[in-house]
Amino acid sequence: MKKGKHSSVRWRIVLIYFMLLFAALTILAVYLTNSMRAYQLDSLKENITKTVNQSNLLKFLGGFAELEPYSEEIQQSLDGSWTSGFSQELSVVDEKLRVVASTNSNLKGRNAADVFDSDIIVSALVQGRSTESESQTGSISVKNLCFPVQHTDVSGRSAYTGAVYVRADLSSINAFLSQSRMIFLQAMALALVITVVLGFMVARSITEPINDVTKTVEKMSQGDFSASIAVKSDDEIGQLAEMFNLMQQKLDQTIAEINNEKNKLGTILEYMADGLIAIDLDGNVLQVNPTARHILGIPSDIPSESLKYSEMLGHFSADMELNALKDACRDGSGESLLRGDEYTYAVRFDRFKDENGEDVGIIIIMQDMTERQRLEDMQTDFVANVSHELKTPLTNIKSYTETLLDGALDDPDTARNFLQIVDSEADRMNRLVKDLLQLSRMDHGQDPLFLKESNVISLVNMAIMKMELSARHKGLEIRSLYDIEGDIRAMMDRDRMEQVLLNVLSNAIKYTNEGYVSIDVKEQSGQIKIIVSDTGIGIPEASLSRIFERFYRVDKARSRSMGGTGLGLAITKQIVEEHKGSIEAESSEGKGTTVVISLPSVNRKGIRNID
Ligand SMILES: Nc1ncnc2c1ncn2[C@@H]1O[C@H](COP(=O)(O)OP(=O)(O)OP(=O)(O)O)[C@@H](O)[C@H]1O
Ligand SMILES: [Mg+2]
Repeated sequence: MKKGKHSSVRWRIVLIYFMLLFAALTILAVYLTNSMRAYQLDSLKENITKTVNQSNLLKFLGGFAELEPYSEEIQQSLDGSWTSGFSQELSVVDEKLRVVASTNSNLKGRNAADVFDSDIIVSALVQGRSTESESQTGSISVKNLCFPVQHTDVSGRSAYTGAVYVRADLSSINAFLSQSRMIFLQAMALALVITVVLGFMVARSITEPINDVTKTVEKMSQGDFSASIAVKSDDEIGQLAEMFNLMQQKLDQTIAEINNEKNKLGTILEYMADGLIAIDLDGNVLQVNPTARHILGIPSDIPSESLKYSEMLGHFSADMELNALKDACRDGSGESLLRGDEYTYAVRFDRFKDENGEDVGIIIIMQDMTERQRLEDMQTDFVANVSHELKTPLTNIKSYTETLLDGALDDPDTARNFLQIVDSEADRMNRLVKDLLQLSRMDHGQDPLFLKESNVISLVNMAIMKMELSARHKGLEIRSLYDIEGDIRAMMDRDRMEQVLLNVLSNAIKYTNEGYVSIDVKEQSGQIKIIVSDTGIGIPEASLSRIFERFYRVDKARSRSMGGTGLGLAITKQIVEEHKGSIEAESSEGKGTTVVISLPSVNRKGIRNID
């Protein structure tokens, strides 16, 4: 198809050349042969006229009043001065159109009307002037010339008494003309062949660079910008090639810039913390970035083109439906909040336009607010919890002091009893405030650890010693399963770790009514494990994951009655994590609980900060 187009231009140029030359040569040939023929005939006529005039034949014939009676005489004169048998023959015709004498003996005595062109004879006789014609005698074309013979008698009257009729054979002229024509045709054919060849070469010199351009453009259309067109000349085509190369460079540059921008945008989209979705106005998805996929749970192997907005986001809420979205962002951007049990997303959307300023789609940005929402909820809960925890002891203190003021002071036993309660409630508030302050300091990094390498065993021994009394009060035994003389070292802040152990042990004792509390210390695979088990009431499966939350208590009333605030394990976990360790609890309800504290062990040798 393309090839045909190229060759058609080439052939069209050749054809135009061919036709131009053909027309020119044809006109030239026709003109030349015609003028040659006219020239030949003219000179023939001139020759004959000259010969006839110079021969005095007309004058000689004019001497006779009548030609017929002197035919012998005339014939003799003709025979004398005219040679017969040459390509021209001469006859004398009298006024009655009889051939009186002729260089051709066959014609003598015949009627001129039978053998000659009688029209020119008649007009010569009537008008008295030379006439001529061309005619065909058999296969031979001839030129006829007729000269009138004028006789003037003694009285001065003149009359046309006859005519001299010359017939010239045109065969040789015709042969010459056809020979010339032949030569012309041959020359023309040769010229045309040369024209076709030259024309083809010229056309090729024009079409070849155009073909080059076409080939390069074809490559470019397939994305290959490396090839450039060779500039072979300085003419228009050379300039075209040069301009083309320039354009190609510009295009290459522009495409590289566009690609760069695209890559940049792609990277931004890829690593954007917010989810981004672009859709067209029909709800077809144009783009989804990884964050949006993650938020909406769309696997990365599903191409965005096969996604539908309505199935992806449109069904979340009424104001996220496509039409609602389009309406909402008609006058600027819109926003919405998607809330579920486990997620909160702030959604913002706006239309985007094409280069003509027409709306073509909507960009939706999803911001994951789950964590922020959770923190806000926690904060609200925290304030509520703190107020609640403070309110109970304050109410108690208030009611006991009122009762005392109302007269109970007068009874010393009751008064002492009441004051003890007031004192314990104040203690409780004090503990609560202390715990809160510690948590707050840790949250703000204002309570730095003083890490030193020290023996975990000695720390555990000390903690057990401190708790022994309260265990004994409840009739519980504390069993040490480890070697109390042992030496297992860890980098720790002793005071904090003691607080951790006391919290865990106090819980074990608090929530165990009978049986024992056991404690073990092990070092395995680079970890020091402190395992505290009890035979107490245990923790229900559902609560197990929550006991490290602030203020969380399985049984609020029971815990509170034992002076608990629900902050112990929260502080414990935070301290352990600051030591780069971890704390976990396992429990079966009614059978007991095991709390495992893991700390990284020290296995480096060198300068140590030994306690
Ligand atoms: N050994 C255990 N056996 C059973 N339940 C436990 C045990 N340890 C913790 N719990 C549960 O976990 C909750 C949270 O413990 P945490 O130490 O944080 O609070 P608390 O002991 O109630 O109060 P605080 O320690 O602040 O005086 C407790 O209220 C209790 O319900
Ligand atoms: Mg506790």
